[in-house]
Amino acid sequence: MEILIDNIGELFDGHRIIRDTCIHIKEGRIESIGVRERADEVIDAEGKFVMPGFIDPHTHTVFAGSREFELEWKIEGKSYSEIAEMGGGILYTVKETRRASKEELVKQMEERLREMLSHGTTTVEIKSGYGLDRETEIKMLEAIQEVKRKTKMDVVPTFLAHAIPSGREAEEYTEEIISEIIPEVGKRKLAEFCDVFCEKGYFDVEQSRRILMKGREYGMLPKIHADEFSCIGCSRMAAEINAVSADHLLMAGEEEMKTLAGAGVVATLLPATPFVLNTSYPDARRMKEIGLTIALATDFNPNCYVANMQFIVQLACYKMGMMPLEALRAATINAAKAIKRDGEVGSIERGKKGDVLITNVASHKFIPYKIGVNMVRKVIKEGELVYSED
Ligand code: NIG
Ligand code: FE
Repeated sequence: MEILIDNIGELFDGHRIIRDTCIHIKEGRIESIGVRERADEVIDAEGKFVMPGFIDPHTHTVFAGSREFELEWKIEGKSYSEIAEMGGGILYTVKETRRASKEELVKQMEERLREMLSHGTTTVEIKSGYGLDRETEIKMLEAIQEVKRKTKMDVVPTFLAHAIPSGREAEEYTEEIISEIIPEVGKRKLAEFCDVFCEKGYFDVEQSRRILMKGREYGMLPKIHADEFSCIGCSRMAAEINAVSADHLLMAGEEEMKTLAGAGVVATLLPATPFVLNTSYPDARRMKEIGLTIALATDFNPNCYVANMQFIVQLACYKMGMMPLEALRAATINAAKAIKRDGEVGSIERGKKGDVLITNVASHKFIPYKIGVNMVRKVIKEGELVYSED
């Protein structure tokens, strides 16, 4: 099967801008750019802006229920930890998720993935972490595997040590993770990455290090939720163990940024989180000056219900001082780096998967500029039209 996406007014290939061009996709892979070859099917881009599918490298898409009732508390000025104490937060979602069947989790996840896909996301990372016991964490990861088989999107599963179950000690749960959960996840190959919420009141630096090292022993590469609410040394540890990415970094200072940059750790920024929590944004400009590779992600979770990477690009530009092209690179090729998929996706280059978005706007500058509407008109995944506005 050969497809020609013709009449592209402006193309962002994951790196730079090319004008008036076309893309030839053969058997699901990019064959050439700018060569108008014969094809079985021609898709007319109508002179509009075309780009690679968005990569969303940090989400918590598998959970049951929602937490819309927290919004009024947030508006009243309650903080994330106050909301947790009031019965909301992660532990509320844990209760719901433990109660739900695997089928129910799959169903809810599929709905969320449809929303993501129709807004242009073609590759998504999904973390466990609302089980906080062996049985439920495994159920979540199995649900991710099932969804991975069913959806057209590429799904990258991560085991996440997310919080301390109520009534238990951090040290004791860390032991259970290390001696029981990670070995099972590893042997059954249920996750590619291991992640930990390294934060005051969650896992401390040493517990986080032990979890990530154990994960690595079982073939899962380390990722970390670092410096979100406080700066307790997570970034330094992430650099020491060569984590693939350090995510959030709202509180990261000069020292943390330099250490991460020195170790080649990708900084995954999640601007929708400070947006919903009404806190300050990470210093992306400084990170860029220091030479950090910046990726963007939604952080989709019941506290931050956003499936749309276009909105993340908008926040990155308006709130973190990123330039439109930088933000688009961060949401495509750099996001692919954050999940070690940059050899396969994240840019439109010969040999990579034919994951392409046709938009209804004239240039890349509209993606951060035009807010509150879906600018994605067609989504092509591995050469197949998987979403069309009309
Ligand atoms: O990445 N920081 C920790 N975990 C999530 C939020 C999870 C939740 O509130 O349910 C995050 O922001
Ligand atoms: Fe997260």
